[in-house]
Amino acid sequence: MADKLIIFDTTLRDGEQSPGASMTREEKLRIAKQLEKLRVDVIEAGFAAASNGDFESVKAIADTIRDSTVCSLSRANDRDISRAAEALTNARSKRIHTFIATSALHMEKKLRMTPDQVYEQARLAVRFARKFTDNVEFSPEDGSRSDVDFLCRVLEAVIDEGATTVNIADTVGYAVPELFGELIRTLRERIPNSDKAVWSVHCHNDLGMAVANSLAGVMAGARQVECTINGLGERAGNTALEEVVMAVRTRSDFFGLELGIDSTQIVPASRLVSGITGFPVQPNKAVVGANAFAHASGIHQDGVLKQRNTYEIMRAEDVGWAANKIVLGKLSGRNAFKQRLQDLGIALESEQEVNAAFQRFKDLADGKSEIYDEDIQALVSDQSVHAEQDDYLRLVSMGQSSEMGEQPKARVTLWIEGREETVETTGNGPVDATLKAIETMAKSDAEMTLYSVNAITGGTEAQGEVTVRLAKGGRVVNGVGADPDIIVASAKAYLAALNRLHSKAERLNPQNGTP
Ligand code: KIV
Ligand code: ZN
Repeated sequence: MADKLIIFDTTLRDGEQSPGASMTREEKLRIAKQLEKLRVDVIEAGFAAASNGDFESVKAIADTIRDSTVCSLSRANDRDISRAAEALTNARSKRIHTFIATSALHMEKKLRMTPDQVYEQARLAVRFARKFTDNVEFSPEDGSRSDVDFLCRVLEAVIDEGATTVNIADTVGYAVPELFGELIRTLRERIPNSDKAVWSVHCHNDLGMAVANSLAGVMAGARQVECTINGLGERAGNTALEEVVMAVRTRSDFFGLELGIDSTQIVPASRLVSGITGFPVQPNKAVVGANAFAHASGIHQDGVLKQRNTYEIMRAEDVGWAANKIVLGKLSGRNAFKQRLQDLGIALESEQEVNAAFQRFKDLADGKSEIYDEDIQALVSDQSVHAEQDDYLRLVSMGQSSEMGEQPKARVTLWIEGREETVETTGNGPVDATLKAIETMAKSDAEMTLYSVNAITGGTEAQGEVTVRLAKGGRVVNGVGADPDIIVASAKAYLAALNRLHSKAERLNPQNGTP
């Protein structure tokens, strides 16, 4: 039997470290359920010690997920490891992932520790983590820029202490495939107990080589790849799960590896993550981009019609691209709606939430005759954004007027901290006027660094999905809103972002602190 390649998904931890990608507990749980459907082997659910909110999210995922191993990140210290262990108590299968930086630069400038201190800390952390589980992963952060002799010393010690996975991190995306593959090969050859652990790779995409580096690591003997849906992650992101999976599967002649993944769940996972985080997928993105299977040139179309594999190396349906399905309409009842939520893996927590979602569905179906799965997902994402907020700002009503040659006007009424307020303004266009009216009341002073509109499905009847990104005082937040009226969708997205900015939930970034 061929070797198995373990797929370790870190969308909920490293992916969430992307500026603006923070998610609520309910959103993370929805993504975790989709990752379980995708049959990823390990879900890194978060960094339990970062904040109470992160702890609760890891715990909720550990309490719910049954078919994937649930993992929490922790720095190499007893407090972080204990928090991780506590959050994972109810997991059917759990893993603690502990890490410390090993490059001279990080040790000296960031940790202010000597190599001997780092060596000792790494050893003790793995020893301590083993008290809670026999599934312990250790990562040398900035591994690809670390001294190879020192890496050998640290990794041999942590494997001796019982680390079952050792994960070489290309933290800053500096590696190139040939050298990274050589590094993995050298470490496996030089470390005497290297056969006692699974070798793993964790690559960032700063030079666009994360997938290539990961696959070079696999060719050198790594049997776990750490990755994220849509390549989400800090800065330029991480290795994209969908690309690694489809490369290994499509070129099984070359890689010869087994995968446990149900690839038909890839596109639904991509859509869900994009909808929740507000990070749109570029149309030409491999596997999950809207154009990934579209053939525009006549020659290609002709070829595909005659024989599909002339221009297609994968089948769209194998990665979950299905023709848009009309699922519900105006006459559909509450039970049909509830059933559809269940089929889509959306579990709303209370009957009250189902009722609210159903009401929104009815409102949508009044104006839009065909409701697709994507519409329902957007509708629920939109609701969850609001459900988790402390209702600092709520939209009561809005209207605009725009006529050629006239300056557009908007009138918005908000519920703001317990009272109603109305403002009328003008702007460049109706969206600009509406958002200006909101800002006049919110007085956020935040800078808008992104405004994007996407059609959720095809046709002019489609809902528009708007993403707004705001930055203020070093914090970046995204807001997503969906509505058939893109001005309303824009207002919803802007309010969602303002509410997020207002909720001060502070959390530790694992890569900033000392252990
Ligand atoms: O990029 C990195 O170094 C990490 C580690 C925590 C594995 O995310
Ligand atoms: Zn990382």
